[in-house]
Amino acid sequence: MPQSTLPTQNKQLKQVRLAKLGGIFLEYKAASVLADVYAVTRGLNTMAIAQPPLPYDFNALEPYGMKAETFEYHYGKHHKAYVDNLNKLIADTEMADHSLEDIIKASFKDQAKAGIFNNSAQVWNHSFFWNCLKPAGGGTPSGDLAAKIDSAFGSFDKFKEEFSNAATTQFGSGWAWLIDDAGALKVTKTPNAENPVAHGQKALLTLDVWEHAYYIDFRNARPAFIKNFLDQLVNWEFVEQNLAAA
Ligand SMILES: [Fe+2]
Repeated sequence: MPQSTLPTQNKQLKQVRLAKLGGIFLEYKAASVLADVYAVTRGLNTMAIAQPPLPYDFNALEPYGMKAETFEYHYGKHHKAYVDNLNKLIADTEMADHSLEDIIKASFKDQAKAGIFNNSAQVWNHSFFWNCLKPAGGGTPSGDLAAKIDSAFGSFDKFKEEFSNAATTQFGSGWAWLIDDAGALKVTKTPNAENPVAHGQKALLTLDVWEHAYYIDFRNARPAFIKNFLDQLVNWEFVEQNLAAA
């Protein structure tokens, strides 16, 4: 065999080897993809509660007082942790196939299910809260909602005062709410994870007053966070939809 043919033969041999390796690689990838599909399908069956996508980009509220970093932590870490914890707690239990609302109601005031209640309610509260915010929000509501707020509180300014007061005076961690309680609009506040779902009330609007909600943007100044929420962030269209569905 002439020496001059060796490089070509070697090259062809390498190509054959590479082709075989490619075949093995493709077989491996196919098996890997199938394993992933199996894992995801299995995951969907057992991981009943999902974290809804944030309804805007992480940086969408930066011109309105809330940094992307807030959402990286609050949505990306805190909210996600509640979802992950809940799915671990309900896996292989009778609650695994229940709706989030049913899990909240069934675990409320059950000391043996305190972890399930805290995490399920916090999943619900945060998923609801993200929708209460929007870029260039705030201002005043309209239509039926505006009329009901005037009727219940005397004026929109009186509502803002009452809501701000509830959010400011919730001692420690918790939430301030505007709720529809059997047809009557009310402002309430709840400690820790507790929420209107647990109390059989219809939530219309909420503000998270856990310190993790405002520390990045406002440090310890909860009143400034509340004012910014009412002035620049409230998604009144979402509140109107909630009232219409009440
Ligand atoms: Fe929070």
